[in-house]
Amino acid sequence: MDGNGRWAARRGLPRLAGHREGARAVRRTIEAARDHGVGWLTLYAFSSENWRRPHGEVRDLTGLLRHYLRTEIAELAANGVRIRAIGDRERFDPDIRALLVAAERGTIGNTGLNLTIALSYGGRDEILAAARAAAREVAEGRLDPAMLDEAMFEGLLSTAGIPDPDLVIRTSGERRLSNFLLWQSAYAELVFQDVLWPDFGPVQFAEALAEYARRERRFGARPG
Ligand code: IPE
Ligand code: MG
Repeated sequence: MDGNGRWAARRGLPRLAGHREGARAVRRTIEAARDHGVGWLTLYAFSSENWRRPHGEVRDLTGLLRHYLRTEIAELAANGVRIRAIGDRERFDPDIRALLVAAERGTIGNTGLNLTIALSYGGRDEILAAARAAAREVAEGRLDPAMLDEAMFEGLLSTAGIPDPDLVIRTSGERRLSNFLLWQSAYAELVFQDVLWPDFGPVQFAEALAEYARRERRFGARPG
């Protein structure tokens, strides 16, 4: 989800206005995903690098997250959404961590859209943590390095149990993954859209799905 700042700058508004409008786009996107029967949706809401933004903007973003969790979770839960969070949540204030735990626990039995929010998330951080966990198992004599395979390694990632993404959408014209689900996106179709995130909605979502449908996925195998 990229382009909140540019959306605001184009209107002569503070960046916070762009982030607020971005939160509305999140609501529209979750609805669009549900309407299209998408089973799993992951939103990259806050990267591990975003902590390096000016203090005021970090405070605005975490404040908005707090507000979003307080006001939106109940409705999502009522709509059957199962909520998960990935990333280094320890860096957030205790009340936000508590809201995340409550959202996860309160929706654990839901069978509708699986919504994962990536918060203070970084793909390299995640892979390093998994490598560290595997190394610990080896050091403590519980794992033979030769036995470590992809399935086992996946089980050590924060996305354990969450399917790999088929489609990754990035907005705002940037053509990078920027540390998003690096391991998991190995075979994902990448769709880059020029729309700024606050302007994203059902039309852009449908366009991305249509683009995905036109791609031929071979997973490295020969065509035909
Ligand atoms: C994305 O918009 C929102 C977050 C990173 C939380 P940006 O804030 O990155 O907006 P631009 O890239 O400056 O336009
Ligand atoms: Mg950006």
